[in-house]
Amino acid sequence: MRFRADRPLGVAPATVLDYRELARRRLPRQLFDYIDGGAYEETTLRANVSDLERVLLRQVVMRDVSTRDPSVEVLGQRLALPVILGPVGLGGMFARRAEVQAARAAEAAGVPFVESTVSICGIEEVARAKQTPPWFQLYVMRDRGYAEDLLRRAEAVGSPVLVLTIDLAVVGARHRDTRNAVVGAPSTWAKIARGLDIAAHPAWIRDVPVNGKPLTFGNLENAVPGARTPDAFKEWVDDQFDPSVTWDDVAWVREHWNGRLVVKGVLDPEDARMALDAGVDGIVVSNHGGRQLDSVPSTVRALPAIADAVGDQIEVLADGGIRTGLDVVKMVALGARAVLIGRAWAWAVAARGEAGVRHVLEVMRADIDVALALTGQTSFAGVDRSALYQAGAPAGQILPA
Ligand SMILES: Cc1cc2nc3c(=O)[nH]c(=O)nc-3n(C[C@H](O)[C@H](O)[C@H](O)COP(=O)(O)O)c2cc1C
Repeated sequence: MRFRADRPLGVAPATVLDYRELARRRLPRQLFDYIDGGAYEETTLRANVSDLERVLLRQVVMRDVSTRDPSVEVLGQRLALPVILGPVGLGGMFARRAEVQAARAAEAAGVPFVESTVSICGIEEVARAKQTPPWFQLYVMRDRGYAEDLLRRAEAVGSPVLVLTIDLAVVGARHRDTRNAVVGAPSTWAKIARGLDIAAHPAWIRDVPVNGKPLTFGNLENAVPGARTPDAFKEWVDDQFDPSVTWDDVAWVREHWNGRLVVKGVLDPEDARMALDAGVDGIVVSNHGGRQLDSVPSTVRALPAIADAVGDQIEVLADGGIRTGLDVVKMVALGARAVLIGRAWAWAVAARGEAGVRHVLEVMRADIDVALALTGQTSFAGVDRSALYQAGAPAGQILPA
């Protein structure tokens, strides 16, 4: 590394975006783009981040803030921070047994880990690695028998919360994956290019394909014939997404799941009311991290109206674009009880494994602590829209037009 007087040494990551840069260097391009990318022109992906940046905190001083408690109560659990590691598919391709590493880091920080259906490590492997059982994420699937089997497995390891993802009736196009020939039938040249991309990342090869085996889908084995290879898996997944799904399917899951039920992928107050009617305990205001329909509102923009519509009746969570603890405080101020993070933990685990995820959570905790203190709060109990700088704007118009 060359020393440049005008730049920091850059040897100690300080933020989530530093971990993004480390992940970019460590991962094959096709994998980095899978994590980093969004749907279509990535307008919503960018808006998730930039709209959050435009929300301003209201600094107030000289309030006694000597004891501060960032913990919150979510779905019957006390979380050390209003942060949850959200479901991220294919985690075990980013680092060796990455779901286990991330789940351990989450446990150390006192926050939940949500196991994606399409994880490399199965739910039993993740549950064995820690004291507190992971939450489980399920898609609405065509194959009810298989969905039920997964619910029983989650129940058997003691998952307290099911996160049912409902914004995948069809799959949005991610152009980066097309360009990298990750989707579609690759030409011979594309296969060679993908091989060269992998060959250029020996540290990742050692960590994942060599030491991180087996690279199969832990929740799909035995239940899904032929799901052992990525291509067979993709075919199976595509077949499982069902554009005919309705709220009746949520009611079916409600009947078959005894724990808390949260639906993820609500972006409209009308849908939030329907979720309430379907008997869920909570919703996640989410646009799938800008990976599904592009040109929909950022989640920070959609959140206030949804929280106003149902926030006093069910628990409202939110995700999308959270990169700092200050973002967490802003989302809570706008009506979320807690937030889910996706890319933040994916980049951290890819870059530095469990230690990376622990560090990212520690950085968020420290950010939150300062943000609470300088907005005059000692806990999240008092964090509402009055913690945001509104410059005379009427409530709800926190974002500049
Ligand atoms: C690489 C990647 C894989 C994802 N896989 C899943 C998944 O398997 N199930 C799911 O419900 N959401 C999935 N998501 C969406 C996340 O749970 C979450 O909604 C999103 O990442 C939040 O935005 P953020 O990445 O800006 O934090 C995935 C997101 C990413 C980035």
